[in-house]
Amino acid sequence: MHLVLVGAPGAGKGTQAKALSQQFGIPHISTGDIFRASLAAQTDLGLQVQRYMDAGELVPDDVTIGIMRARLVEPDTSGGFLLDGFPRTLHQAQSLGTTLLDLGTPLDAVLELQIDDHEVIRRLSGRRTCRSCGHIWHVEFDPPATPDVCGLCGGELLQRDDDQPVTIRRRLEVYAEQTAPLIGFYSDARLLRSICALGTIEEVTKRAIDALTTES
Ligand code: AP5
Repeated sequence: MHLVLVGAPGAGKGTQAKALSQQFGIPHISTGDIFRASLAAQTDLGLQVQRYMDAGELVPDDVTIGIMRARLVEPDTSGGFLLDGFPRTLHQAQSLGTTLLDLGTPLDAVLELQIDDHEVIRRLSGRRTCRSCGHIWHVEFDPPATPDVCGLCGGELLQRDDDQPVTIRRRLEVYAEQTAPLIGFYSDARLLRSICALGTIEEVTKRAIDALTTES
């Protein structure tokens, strides 16, 4: 299955991507995770993207598209993939379409997670991510047994730099301006499946699987 997850910052894309990639046996590819790993390793790419991420702005299309073109030809994508956070502009979506046409692997579906800004702010301000295994927790909605310690691997939990209130607000504006137009684009292409992202993590996962496995 060749899938794209789209939704506002904090809609639960990373959380649901983990469950869906397991369910469908496909790799979870997150541009945000790729950029954060580059930043942590202080690579040229990391240094290049840092100021955009810190400000809540999008990394320029040419950089992001180049990274994804290379990622999509890696061997683990031969049976499908789940893209989380890409595409994020119409230009990225058009480029993805061209790449997949060349590879002969068109998208099967684009899953939209629908959420309101109030819930986004609650989710992002309480998010904590494990420094070691990357698992995503939430201080209120999905807390580990011991505060600030990953319940899976014992790693240290961190708050992302871009989860500060002023940056969250900018990320929401950027989503409305540059990413929301993808909803119409993929609806016109008859690929869009939209679900409500409110409710427990398990309820949203069930809705997502139902939406992706039911004929439209
Ligand atoms: P990225 O990492 O993709 O961030 P984002 O899209 O803003 O999304 P988030 O990771 O913040 O949220 P999410 O939807 O994954 O939610 P999560 O599952 O964590 O991108 C970061 C930056 O990188 C961008 O700002 C940009 O600079 C750059 N970038 C990335 N891709 C790019 C691209 N294609 N082009 C250009 N630039 C790009 O959940 C959030 C919290 O809520 C967690 O704590 C979780 O536990 C909790 N939660 C989840 N589901 C539920 C639920 N159902 N109920 C209660 N709590 C829940």
